[in-house]
Amino acid sequence: MCGIVGYIGEEQAAPVLLEGLGKLEYRGYDSAGVAVHNDSGLHVVKSKGRLAVLEEILHKGETLPGTVGIGHTRWATHGAPSDVNSHPQVSDGGTFAVVHNGIIENYLYLKNHLKRRGVEFVSDTDTEVVAQMLEYYYSRNGEGPDPVLAAIKQVTDRVEGSYALGIICADCPEKVFAVRKDSPLIVGLGDRENFIASDVTAILSRTRRICRLKDREIAVLERDGASFFDGDLYPIEKPEETVEWDVAAAEKGGYEHFMMKEICEQPEALRKTISPRIREGRIQLDDIPLSREDIQGISRIFIVACGTSYHVGAVAKYAFEKLLRLPIEVDVASEFRYRDPILDEKTLVIIISQSGETADTLAALREAKRQGARTLSIVNVVGSTIANESDGVLYTWAGPEIAVASTKAYSTQLAMIYLIALYMVQELGVLPEEELAGYVEALEELPQMAARCLEEGKEAIQYFAAQYFNAGDMYFIGRNVDYAASLEASLKLKEISYIHSEAYTGGELKHGPISLIEDGVLVIAICTYGKLFDKMMANIREVKARGAVVLGIGTEDMRSKLAQETDWQFCVPKVPDFMLPSMSILPLQLFAYYVASMKGCDIDKPRNLAKSVTVE
Ligand code: G6P
Repeated sequence: MCGIVGYIGEEQAAPVLLEGLGKLEYRGYDSAGVAVHNDSGLHVVKSKGRLAVLEEILHKGETLPGTVGIGHTRWATHGAPSDVNSHPQVSDGGTFAVVHNGIIENYLYLKNHLKRRGVEFVSDTDTEVVAQMLEYYYSRNGEGPDPVLAAIKQVTDRVEGSYALGIICADCPEKVFAVRKDSPLIVGLGDRENFIASDVTAILSRTRRICRLKDREIAVLERDGASFFDGDLYPIEKPEETVEWDVAAAEKGGYEHFMMKEICEQPEALRKTISPRIREGRIQLDDIPLSREDIQGISRIFIVACGTSYHVGAVAKYAFEKLLRLPIEVDVASEFRYRDPILDEKTLVIIISQSGETADTLAALREAKRQGARTLSIVNVVGSTIANESDGVLYTWAGPEIAVASTKAYSTQLAMIYLIALYMVQELGVLPEEELAGYVEALEELPQMAARCLEEGKEAIQYFAAQYFNAGDMYFIGRNVDYAASLEASLKLKEISYIHSEAYTGGELKHGPISLIEDGVLVIAICTYGKLFDKMMANIREVKARGAVVLGIGTEDMRSKLAQETDWQFCVPKVPDFMLPSMSILPLQLFAYYVASMKGCDIDKPRNLAKSVTVE
């Protein structure tokens, strides 16, 4: 939610900031702005609307001279999208310009406090409070050793909530300041130029050397370097990291949309996630300390996540329960954190997050740790907060996922779940060797199965989408793992095409939803799970009897049976039961994509959504 960037160097800042914001637009895109320092002081240009609107105003940055600046792309939390609520927010006297990602929870209290002291506010944002407080304390700090740093500390001592802040001060034309708590922020170190950014994609084309700020740490960027301070303003050393991500991975590479690029990257992403972890037929999870004794000591597993990552949890429940016969609970993080879950040291909490920064998921992780549970996270973004704070982290090697609708992260998270479940089975020895070997082999073959499925799916699904892209409602049904896949398929469709869709278990249909079925309504029935195939056929007959048109997604061996009951069919390669969602989701990701494309929707940046939800 919201992306921030900052630059100090020898080039003009505005074009560099705009380029960085372009890479962060997935984090929010209802308004954008930049503030640049030049000989005549701080200059702010901001506007409601996409970054393209700001670029137009600034003629790609050429009309705003200056080599020091900060920028922001917004996903509104406090105050509707508008010019005045856009960032940067500037203090009353014009001394500070601030960009912010996060939420200042006690902003109203602080705002009223300042108002009583004569400070005038112009926006509805929580961020303006930070700018105004900075000026308020700075103007009272006098000539101390570093009055700006002192003001930053006074502000961070008082604000509650989450923040990543980029700050410039009219009286310090050669500095950019940054501080964070619970919202992501990195510092990029270049050659006579330095950066701040919400994530590495924003600066990858300029440097791979980064430092990560911990909570309440402050960075001060100058042209020749960066200095760091802890929350009490003591100087600290920060280790430097080198980012390995390929720059091209964060570009569209000839595809019209990131989403299609990322759908097509799934076989390769699966290979990168799976193959280094299987050696000579055995699963090796070198990255986490989970010995046989540790696994034997686990009495219950919780899986906690949001959005698409939660839907991975829904599949994981079936996989773990089938393979391990252990009780599994799957929770959305925003519920888990407030429902006072019963946890102890025998509980393993698996946290799933693409970004590693989702606020509710992070809070759930902290709650699990507070109660003494063991925590293991499945994360895509290396070095993210969730990755850093978990007892163990397993990375999905999907590379940067830019499209808001998650595809390759989902697939690689699923693969990681299979790896963990099979690793536990292997260590505990609870399955016959041949059975386990069969599963491991199937897992190794998953990337090529996915490639085949996508190859066959593209044309067929595009044709099918062309028949139904005007539909008002769609329903997805499935049983067992197919139900878990239905949840994700339905979410994909609604988030990017804005078509109302819902997912139900086949058995639950008759308890309500069937009343919505009438002539011509499209029902997508996922029927890959062989054990309940006949039950699904019965459900299909029920909806067809009420006028529904049915697309059946089945496995290749069931093609002719499926064709007898459904109007349209698409068949996926047969894989072990608990891995079936890895196949069935592929044509349905394509379906969502083509429907949205035919409707002319903004596929990579759907309305009201953001890729990384770092506010509660
Ligand atoms: C947002 C994104 C979803 C994502 C969810 C969880 O809602 O739009 O695509 O699944 O956050 O994000 P995470 O990074 O924790 O997996």
